[in-house]
Amino acid sequence: MAVDLLLGLQWGDEGKGKIVDVLTSSYDIIARFQGGPNAGHTLEFEGNKHVLHTIPSGIFHPNAINIIGNGVVIDPVIFIKEIENLAPYQIDFSEKLLISKKAHIILPTHRLLDAASEASKGKAKIGSTLKGIGPTYMDKTGRNGIRVGDIVATDWEIKYRKLAQKHLEMLKSYGNTLDFDLEEMERSFFESVDQLRSFRLIDSEQYLYEAQKQGKKILAEGAQGSLLDIDFGTYPFVTSSTTTAAGACTGLGVAPNQIKEVFGIFKAYATRVGSGPFPTELFDEYGVTMGRVGNEFGATTGRARRCGWIDLVALKYSIQVNGVTQLMMMKGDVLSGFETIKACVGYKTLEGVKKYLPYDLNAEDIEPVYNTLPGWKEDLTQITSTQEFPKAFQDYILFLETHLETPITIVSVGPDRKQTIFR
Ligand code: GDP
Ligand code: IMO
Ligand code: MG
Repeated sequence: MAVDLLLGLQWGDEGKGKIVDVLTSSYDIIARFQGGPNAGHTLEFEGNKHVLHTIPSGIFHPNAINIIGNGVVIDPVIFIKEIENLAPYQIDFSEKLLISKKAHIILPTHRLLDAASEASKGKAKIGSTLKGIGPTYMDKTGRNGIRVGDIVATDWEIKYRKLAQKHLEMLKSYGNTLDFDLEEMERSFFESVDQLRSFRLIDSEQYLYEAQKQGKKILAEGAQGSLLDIDFGTYPFVTSSTTTAAGACTGLGVAPNQIKEVFGIFKAYATRVGSGPFPTELFDEYGVTMGRVGNEFGATTGRARRCGWIDLVALKYSIQVNGVTQLMMMKGDVLSGFETIKACVGYKTLEGVKKYLPYDLNAEDIEPVYNTLPGWKEDLTQITSTQEFPKAFQDYILFLETHLETPITIVSVGPDRKQTIFR
């Protein structure tokens, strides 16, 4: 078995980018399997800070091949901007970055449809990143989409016009007035598509199959988090792809029996950006402090992330649907100085305490049941080994491990590559 998976267990932004970067030295190939530019994966090393949206987080390592899998949706404009932003690193993309011909393309009109759909929902809006993700996946499953492999065909523009025209008709049905300059959007779109054509466009499932046969080590990188999964997330406040482990099989063409380790990443607390239920959300000083110390602002949209206590009911559910074999805990450093720390271990409902994720997390009657643990005062950010963990921090980790019945093998105590402790 040659493929390991890494995915977020909460509502995204757990620190996937950082950990993929840390682990890349042990892999030959890093492959993104779903999502698109709604993702923002932050990496920090040697004084650099970099946010990736579509490009896998192994791109900064000299020897790793990075693959954008068929399950990903690509906005050519954002993709080319990402490439340009990487110019200072002098990366040889022709060697190191491969793109699946089966990945779908986000058109400018997909973005418009996303905006129109959100505007029409009013208060019930999803809080989408407005990158056109939902409409693009809808066209994919509706069998109308345009794929990367299509842009090299001679009839590509005809295909584009047909779909864009259909979108413009659909836009009218929303009845809201969006302010946009489609000509300008199309100009940069076509320019970027021309550039995209020069990248190595491949049959990535075939490439990965051969790589596995040769014994290459592959790490599949997820985007978003399990609670944003189209099936298992807090529907309808979710994204439009399979963010859970099965998404790596469909998003890369990797067979389920080839998957070995499933790394599940979580924050020592919880955050959510956008709308939707969040039972442990805090509206007090604690929540404000988490946001400030944890610098909880979206890497893609800059929106403030909602903050709250860790939710072990939800985490257990995520571990279960993904088959997580190892946990990685991020941002414990943010909780330094909290007198006490709470962990939600159940939901009180009118029918008693529930230990599993209910169908409708939005229900008014849900109230978190907390275990309260002692906090720690010490700064964790300079710690380099588990021996230096303050006792209360060590106890918090042990409590989580016992409750979640899964080992925590990495503890992250700061955004930098170096602030990573293996247990
Ligand atoms: P991703 O989408 O899962 O890759 O996560 P994001 O990059 O959107 O958000 C995680 C944020 O936390 C980024 O700003 C990281 O630089 C930062 N970060 C990651 N790990 C740690 C950590 O252990 N401590 C602190 N303080 N920040 C971290
Ligand atoms: P990474 O990979 C956090 C959220 C949006 C919104 C919902 C639907 O950085 O963890 P979409 O644009 O997909 O239609 O938005 O999902 N969302 C994310 N939240 N991290 C992400 O990605 C997210 N990608 C989408 O805020 O609530
Ligand atoms: Mg992010």
